[in-house]
Amino acid sequence: MVISSHIFMSTLHHLILIFFISLLGTSSYLQLIKPISCTKGPTFKCSEVERAALLSFKYNLTDPSGRLSSWVGEDCCNWLGVGCNNNTGNVVKLDLRNPSYFDDFDQYNKSRLRGKISSSLLDLKHLSYFDLSLNNFNGTNIPKFLGSLENLRYLNLSFSMFSGVIPPHLGNLSRLQHLDLNSNSDPALSQPESLEWLVGFPSLKYLGMDNVNLEKVPDWLHAINVLPSLRELHLAVCGLVSLPSSISSINFTLLSVLDLSSNDFSTSIPQWLSHLTNLRSLNLVGNNLIGKIPNSFANLCNLQALYLGWNNINGGITEFVDGLSQCSNSSSEDGNLPSMQEIDLSLNQLNGTIPESIGKLSMLVSLELSENSWEGVLTEAHFQNLTRLKSLSLYMESSANWKLVLNVKQDWVPPFKLIDLQLTYVRIGPTFPTWLTTQNELTSLSLENAGISDTIPHGLWKSCPNVTFWRLSSNKLRGQVPYFEFQPSAYYFDLSFNNLEGPLPLFHSNLRLIRLDNNMFSGPIPKNIGELLPKLQVLDLSSNSITDRIPHSFGMLKNLSFLILRNNSLSGKLPPLLWKDLQWLLILDLAENNISGNVPSSMQYLRSLEVLSLSQNHLDGEFPSFFRNYSNLQSLDLGRNKFFGKLPTWLGESLPHLLRLRLRSNFFQGDIPQQLCLLSHLQILDLAHNDFSGVIPQCLGSLRSNESEGYYGGYDYQMFLVSKGIEYGYGQTFVDLLYSIDLSSNNLSGEIPDNITCISELVFMNLSMNHLTGRIPNRIGNLQMLQSLDLSMNELYGPIPQSLSSLNFLSLLNLSFNNLSGKIPIGDQLQTLNDASIYEGNSLLCGLPLSTKCLEDETKPMVTPNGGNRVANENGSAGIKSFSFYISMIAGFIVGFWGVCGTLIIKTSWRQAYFRSFDNLKDKIVVFVMVKIVCLLRKESERK
Ligand SMILES: *[C@@H]1O[C@H](CO)[C@@H](O)[C@H](O)[C@H]1NC(C)=O
Ligand SMILES: *[C@@H]1O[C@H](CO)[C@@H](O)[C@H](O)[C@H]1NC(C)=O
Ligand SMILES: *[C@@H]1O[C@H](CO)[C@@H](O)[C@H](O)[C@H]1NC(C)=O
Ligand SMILES: *[C@@H]1O[C@H](CO)[C@@H](O)[C@H](O)[C@H]1NC(C)=O
Ligand SMILES: *[C@@H]1O[C@H](CO)[C@@H](O)[C@H](O)[C@H]1NC(C)=O
Repeated sequence: MVISSHIFMSTLHHLILIFFISLLGTSSYLQLIKPISCTKGPTFKCSEVERAALLSFKYNLTDPSGRLSSWVGEDCCNWLGVGCNNNTGNVVKLDLRNPSYFDDFDQYNKSRLRGKISSSLLDLKHLSYFDLSLNNFNGTNIPKFLGSLENLRYLNLSFSMFSGVIPPHLGNLSRLQHLDLNSNSDPALSQPESLEWLVGFPSLKYLGMDNVNLEKVPDWLHAINVLPSLRELHLAVCGLVSLPSSISSINFTLLSVLDLSSNDFSTSIPQWLSHLTNLRSLNLVGNNLIGKIPNSFANLCNLQALYLGWNNINGGITEFVDGLSQCSNSSSEDGNLPSMQEIDLSLNQLNGTIPESIGKLSMLVSLELSENSWEGVLTEAHFQNLTRLKSLSLYMESSANWKLVLNVKQDWVPPFKLIDLQLTYVRIGPTFPTWLTTQNELTSLSLENAGISDTIPHGLWKSCPNVTFWRLSSNKLRGQVPYFEFQPSAYYFDLSFNNLEGPLPLFHSNLRLIRLDNNMFSGPIPKNIGELLPKLQVLDLSSNSITDRIPHSFGMLKNLSFLILRNNSLSGKLPPLLWKDLQWLLILDLAENNISGNVPSSMQYLRSLEVLSLSQNHLDGEFPSFFRNYSNLQSLDLGRNKFFGKLPTWLGESLPHLLRLRLRSNFFQGDIPQQLCLLSHLQILDLAHNDFSGVIPQCLGSLRSNESEGYYGGYDYQMFLVSKGIEYGYGQTFVDLLYSIDLSSNNLSGEIPDNITCISELVFMNLSMNHLTGRIPNRIGNLQMLQSLDLSMNELYGPIPQSLSSLNFLSLLNLSFNNLSGKIPIGDQLQTLNDASIYEGNSLLCGLPLSTKCLEDETKPMVTPNGGNRVANENGSAGIKSFSFYISMIAGFIVGFWGVCGTLIIKTSWRQAYFRSFDNLKDKIVVFVMVKIVCLLRKESERK
């Protein structure tokens, strides 16, 4: 899953995902997947008029897969998809739904009918069933004449790329019972101004308008309320904003399925929903709903599925669940049990305990409670009657700090046999939960951060033989990993962040992803790894104690995309012949090992590379000329090696996607090529501690990034950056959003280019220890995000620009040992940087915090608010230690503006994140919280 989300993301797949947005969680989902079988009239010949109409219809269609090839001969009642009335021979049914589905996209696409819809269909006067779904009528409007097929009862035009307006004439179809217009072209069917035409459908039972833009229909609910027969309503992703809190009288009391997911409601959940006592499925996922779950929802005793995930609902659920557990469902064949089968409350702000009464919902199959603020203890009682439970998902946030505990007896035998179990930050340990060995139907198991500090029981693998997805990361599992024969379909195995030791557990299997990083595994990588793991796509062994050389047999792993061996004790040279067939390798991270020698020329074949990190090794040689083949490269880190020679001028031209270039601490020399400025996405430029000479390219200020494109699933690539004098390995979530220029400790001369002040996102800038002359650019105050500015040990002269004082986030400043002169500016943030040493060695500077008084000093008292300890931190251990530190540091500035930007950016991105990759939901959230913060910072600086 992780893998495909990145590697196979193509336009086509993107399309699928758009489709899935409107499918997720709807109860008619299965119904959609199953193609409806076509009826054939066996005995009657159809009329000549109708036959001609069908032929004309066919003639105007393009049918790439030949689905209509049976449409020859006299008896059209025998044609595929055509159904006739047994008594009269009239054509009553036309079912041209695409028999293939998105899961086989190529076949699906091939089987889509295209072209024009001929009005000859008007001759099918008895047509009552017309299904054109899952075809491709791109650029075609929904034909108006459909409104004249007055016998129509069933009309399905969903997923068929129709565009334009929904013809109000459809409202003439007074017998219509089923109207499905879900998910047509993207952007959706153009905005209808009104839904008044719905009044023409007194018999309508099913209305599907997912993905139709209804922003211009604020009173949509009243339009719907004229449909007394309605059983099923789908209005997902319609841009609806208003969900009235009251409604005078409800006409659609028979409603059984209601899907309003992914709209923009930001009200509380209306009480009137609980009057819809026939509801079986209610989906409000992905809105901004606030407030509590109404206790009256406990009246919804027929409810089988309740999806409220991804909202801002708060409060507890005890009363609601207690109420539900008292339900007796009259319509259920299982006697008087509560009928609830699926509950999704994930990603809200619900709090309090999870009530024991949930254990009485004996029909429950799926329980999703992730990402809320639960606390308390889950015991056997919570699961007492959950004999049917198949899926339990409780990802808690790390901040919840194990407030939720699963405390069951060591010999507990659960009443259920789960298929899918996901627990994160729910404390289960310290001993390994032996009850897991009763769960022999499990296919997916994730126990992350569960506080288990035990060995892995030998019997575990055998007792859960069907698991294809294993994640036991971030516990304190210790000892060796027992040998295990994975079943052939197992694809995911993650034991990262534990204390496991011994040889690497790389056993023969079809696994695609293996994470053993951040443990204490030792010894070499098996020489025959290429034969052991033929399907491998992702391998992360970073931060262990792995020794010896990189085995040649890696070269057999033709599907390998991520190879991450960072921070081990690998030695020897890079194998010269390994790389030729690894054409799908996206990430190669060998940093922090003891690898020496050249970068072998066979690495030129790694044409897909997006991230290459070889830093902190003993590699040497000139900047490899074949790197120019890496046209997709986003991140290149050769820092702390022994590379030498000049930087090639093609760098700018050949690596157009480069975001991060780190060559720090090598022996590079010569000019910084002007062509570097062609790297229009460059975000991080670290050339420090080399021997570069000449001037800083004037054009550097044109560097500007849009948005990082790379998203690497679970892999948090790292980059070491120096901020505030401390080098620290930053994770991807941070690096992705960071702008930094470090050219310190070279032989650069000339002036600081004015243009550098145009990189308004710049957070760190270090030009110290060069021979730079001239003045500090006056517009330095444009760098509103700047946190760290070091210009020390140069030959700069002139005054310190007053604009420096407007840099609100500046927490490190060093201007020492230059020839600066005049009065040190006074201003908010500068007053907190009151350590004289940051100005020392500039004999002509005067004013506070220096003891030298300026001649015209007006003796203004210097206010030093509580910021005096900022610099103290500097020399201590602080620096920026972690992402959360960063967040908390700037949080103070932004609290007030949270709301302003939130809706701007987050809305769409969060949604996309949600539907794109559940697997990495949390990573995504972190990224977007970060985006949110940056956005707020921008707003803040605009306000100034
Ligand atoms: C459909 O095909 C017929 C020939 O059978 C042609 O006369 C007619 O103009 C076409 N209709 C449309 C809408 O293209
Ligand atoms: C028509 O015939 C088919 C096949 O014999 C049968 O399944 C269907 O029920 C009949 N329909 C009517 C309306 O009699
Ligand atoms: C209920 O439906 C009927 C029939 O369509 C309509 O006349 C009436 O106005 C509707 N009631 C409300 C409150 O909309
Ligand atoms: C739950 O959160 C609300 C605020 O949303 C708070 O008032 C209440 O005390 C919390 N309840 C518990 C049990 O933590
Ligand atoms: C729930 O389980 C208990 C025992 O665990 C049993 O006595 C009771 O009958 C069950 N109730 C239902 C409604 O299944």
